[in-house]
Amino acid sequence: RKKLIIDTDPGIDDAMAILTAMNSEEVEVIGLTTVFGNVYTDTATKNAFKILEVAGKSQIPVAEGAHDTFAGIKKDWVPDFVHGDDGFGNMNFPEVQGVKYPGSAADFLIETVAGQPGEVVVLALGPLTNVALAMQKDPAFAENVGELVILGGAFFVNGNVNPATEANFFGDPEAADFVLSQPAKTRIVGLDITHSCTFTGPELTGLHGKGRFGTFLSSITAFYLKYHRDSYDMDAVYVHDPAALAVVLRPSLFTWRTGQIRVLTESVARGMSVMDTGLKRWNRPHAWTDRPRVQVAVAVNAKAVTEMLLQRMAL
Ligand code: BDR
Ligand code: CA
Repeated sequence: RKKLIIDTDPGIDDAMAILTAMNSEEVEVIGLTTVFGNVYTDTATKNAFKILEVAGKSQIPVAEGAHDTFAGIKKDWVPDFVHGDDGFGNMNFPEVQGVKYPGSAADFLIETVAGQPGEVVVLALGPLTNVALAMQKDPAFAENVGELVILGGAFFVNGNVNPATEANFFGDPEAADFVLSQPAKTRIVGLDITHSCTFTGPELTGLHGKGRFGTFLSSITAFYLKYHRDSYDMDAVYVHDPAALAVVLRPSLFTWRTGQIRVLTESVARGMSVMDTGLKRWNRPHAWTDRPRVQVAVAVNAKAVTEMLLQRMAL
């Protein structure tokens, strides 16, 4: 079983991914680290405890992450119209307790990975602030992490915050650009993939009463479904974060291309991800030249991915 730390901004699709991981034999979730994104960081931490309670896994530690971006910018906005004020579709569940790691998320990542080099997979489902801080603080972290799987970016399609930019990279572009300059074994799943991974309205309501988490998931996803109906005119939701978990579970369901990535930190396209696919041998160096090559998902067997995810959410 792969040891898995999930860095997360829960968030409705984050909750779907974390709970699916709990029903997946291939992985053992050994900790959650929280970050702002869908909600502010303190809400993300409360929601991580709630998810663990729903899973019956309240002994798993939660490490609270950064409140400000990698460049020190204070967050003053969250997309409450996507995930609700509370991050759970305004269900306003009562607060629950759990095990809080005494240090920061970056410290938890560093300590856990250093203790078992090459063994720990980090699944990053929110802005990359905590991962960037871990890489900055411990230069060995990038080499020691078994694999880094990132949900972020929009490479050959429009973004979801604006036409250029996907939400997680938009949340902390400096962090994303820094992380993708580091030598970790990295796989990235962006909107190119997740915009073909959907659950329909009836599939979501059908989760009610199923398994250990079905009722919880169908309750929080009603709000998320309404957002998709209003914004994309479809009776279905994108399962972004669960699709990234599917990479950890079954990478062969995706087609991969290797490339070097920059994330723009300036201009109207701040947060945009641009990959050099290697088609051209450039005549002179440019801002991508010295970057490590990372794996970017460019196609997916969406039917196999969504069937696997839906089945595990109903267990
Ligand atoms: C990403 O942004 C958040 O809204 C989701 O949880 C997902 O991680 C999709 O762009
Ligand atoms: Ca997320």
